Parts: sequence; C-alpha cells; structure tokens
Amino acid sequence: MDKLIIRGQTPLKGEVTVSGAKNAALGVLPAALLIRGVCTLENVPDILDIDRMKQIMGTLGALFVSVDRDTLQVDTTGVSAFLSTGDDMHRLRASYYLMGALLGRFHEAVITFPGGCDFGNRPIDLHIKGFEALGASVSVDHGCIHLKADKLVGAPIYLDVVSVGATINIMLAAVYAEGVTTIENAAKEPHIVDIATFLNALGADVKGAGTDTIKIRGVRELIGGITHSIIPDQIEAGTFMVAAAATHGDVLVKNVIPKHMESLTAKLLEMNVPVEELDDSIHIHPGTGPLTKANIKTLPYPGFPTDLQPPVAVLLMQAKGVSTITEGIWDNRFKYLEELRKMGADVQVNGRTAMIDGGKPLSGCSIQALDLRAGAACVLAGLVAEGETEITNVQYIDRGYENLVEKLQALGADIRRETGCFPESSQ
Ligand code: EPZ
Repeated sequence: MDKLIIRGQTPLKGEVTVSGAKNAALGVLPAALLIRGVCTLENVPDILDIDRMKQIMGTLGALFVSVDRDTLQVDTTGVSAFLSTGDDMHRLRASYYLMGALLGRFHEAVITFPGGCDFGNRPIDLHIKGFEALGASVSVDHGCIHLKADKLVGAPIYLDVVSVGATINIMLAAVYAEGVTTIENAAKEPHIVDIATFLNALGADVKGAGTDTIKIRGVRELIGGITHSIIPDQIEAGTFMVAAAATHGDVLVKNVIPKHMESLTAKLLEMNVPVEELDDSIHIHPGTGPLTKANIKTLPYPGFPTDLQPPVAVLLMQAKGVSTITEGIWDNRFKYLEELRKMGADVQVNGRTAMIDGGKPLSGCSIQALDLRAGAACVLAGLVAEGETEITNVQYIDRGYENLVEKLQALGADIRRETGCFPESSQ
C-alpha cells in the first residue's frame, strides 16, 4: 500500500480547481441504469469510489467510454441483470443506490449489503421503508437484500431521520411508479438536487429537490442521449478552504458554488479567517490576526456538513482556547482524533462531543488514515505540523479526493507519495 510523506508549516499559496462531486456522481451513475440507452456525464471525478461503481455496474452489463479526463459515456442498453453481489459492493456505501435503480427499472433487485466508512451504526431501514411503501417486498438472505414488486405505486413516505441515501434511493425507485410519491423530511444536500436534475433531464418528473418535501410523479418512459455535468464537490472545496486557513495561506479555490459553502464560510469568518466569495470561486486570504476558537455542530444541509468535521478539527487545533465539535449525524466519527493525539493534539471526546484545546503545536509522526475524511484530517495535520508526517492507508483518501497530492504540490505543499508494499495498517 502507498504512503504520504509531508513536511509541514508551508503556507499554501495559489489556485486549485475542485473536481466533480463524489456523492453526486455516485448517485447519477446508478440513476443511468433507469434508462436503456446512452448518456454523457461531464465533470466526473477520477477517484476510487467511481472506479468501484463503474466496476459494479459493468457486472450488470453497463458499458463505459472515457471521452476525456473527466467526461464519461455510459451505455446501459445491455443491462438486464438485477443481481449485484460482487466484492466491490462491500467496499462502497453508495452501492446501495443499485437497490432503487434496479427496483425502479426491473421491479426486482438483489444486492449484497453495502459497505462504507466505519463511524458507527449505518442502518438502511429508511431505504427499505420507502421501497415497501412503493409496493416492494424486501427480504434478507445470506447477506443479500432481495427486493421484488409486481408493480410500484406512488405513496407518501416520511423519513424519520433526514437521510441522504434514503432520499436518493426512494427518488430512483419512484420515477416509474404509478402516481405520485411524496418524500417528507427529505435531505436537501446539493447532490440530491443534482441527481434530481439528471433524472428530470432524462424525462422524469421530480419536483422540490433541495427542500424537505420532494414529489415524484411516475412517468412511463425515460430517454437517454442527454449530457449532464456533475456539480462541484462541496466537501473537496471545503477541505481546501480549511487547509488554506490552517496553514495561513492565500488560496483561490475554483469551480465552487459559494452557496453550497455558506456554513463553512460563516464559521471561517467567525474564526477571523478572511474569506472572499466570488461568482464560481472562493478566495481564502492570509489572516491578519490569530484564529478565534469556535463551536461547531454538524447537521444535515444547510447545516455544517459532517464530512468536513474531521478536516475542520485540525483548524480548531490552531486556535487558542477550547473549541467544541458536536457530531449531529454519526454515532462515532471521532476515531481519527486518536491519530492526531500522537501529533500532540489536546482533545477530549465525550460521546458525540469533542473538546479541542487549541493553540498547541502539532509535531509530525507516523499516523494512519482510518477512513476517507479522517485521511483528509491526517493530511491537514501533516501540513500544519512541525517536521515530517507519514500517512498510511492512503487508499482511503483516494476514494474521494482526485489528485490530492498533485493539487497540494501545486499550492506549494511539501508532500509526496511513496508507492510500495507498505503494510495496510490494521484499524
Ligand atoms: C451520505 O451517507 C454520504 N455518502 C456521507 O458521506 C455523508 O456523511 C452522509 O450522507 C451525511 O451527509 C454518500 O453520499 C455516498 P445518511 P449516507 O443516510 O447516505 C441515519 C463521505 O465522506 N440513517 O444521510 O449513508 C444514519 O444512521 C461520506 O463522502 C438511518 O437511521 O448517510 C445517520 O445517522 C461519509 N436509517 C443519518 O441517518 C437509514 O435508513 C444520516 O445518514 C439511513 C440513514
């Protein structure tokens, strides 16, 4: 396995262009299974999770042609199977979108339980509740989820918990259902709007995406032949904004929708970080004074995104005084702090709240990425630490950040990747 070597304390300077949104692309790709035809996707990030999704869809008969670096042609003409039980299913949380797409198209689906980052309990009961409300019978057998419906009929569905995955999965299953499906208490993340935009371009009738009530009126047919451009990645953009602030850098983050970044921008301004919003970019200027401590609570969009919680913890470690992070989405998303403690981080975790006593220097050492966003936090810690930091389990970072090393090198970071058979650290 590869590792990253970082020598810290170089302020990041220059421009970086954000790639397409991982969590939008991971929904748009399986959504293409709803048609029998070809569509073109632009701004698709070149990351491991996308490779895995393509792999899984390939076993179902989908064909892919890379038109250029970030443009992909998807041909689902030959897709006939509704059974997906390959190993990749375990390694990709978003594989669960195959349930909604295959049920929607074939009225049947058999998939293995999805995998994904381990930060506590990750149920799919709301996905199942939605499918059953539409008329599907759902059973579990030998680690596989079996879904089957004679027909799908639109229904009102209330999500007891705001769930991105369940919202998207029910949208996919409902596009052909007879009548109207209403999702109440729906998630409002930007990637949900992007997937609804893609579905409507195919001829679906989805209204209200981005609000907490989404209405899907079933249609008889969707058509291919469209081109869709994936929105910019809100979490990658935020990771670079935080990296710039943490290293007292001067960075223009390009290919951004500033509206999507509002919760982070507000927090950075609160922490005395100069943030300038432009049309499709955000400029993080060097701070003129010390960072101010802050309290952060992660919530569904438009609240502070949970996926930026690990990176922003590193920034809070730079601010004198005690800052707090309250994790409002996941049971146990602070495991990465154990790794940062090895670098000198002074943090206390009590359930879903972390107390960070900041303003103390971090020093480089060997740490491991425990999951995708934990890995991003390790990289940011290496960028601010005194001395050299070595990060193993880099494959976790590759899942969601396209060319992270090259992008950081272009901003002046002293970071390199060593390829070799370094043992994958046990978790
Ligand atoms: C998506 O995960 C993202 N993954 C996650 O990003 C992100 O952390 C999460 O949304 C929240 O924004 C993808 O989009 C592939 P949820 P998802 O369903 O859909 C509970 C990353 O780093 N819940 O919105 O799995 C659940 O336990 C990844 O890019 C149920 O109770 O998250 C959690 O507390 C990590 N029952 C809350 O809802 C269900 O059936 C939110 O989960 C489903 C979820």
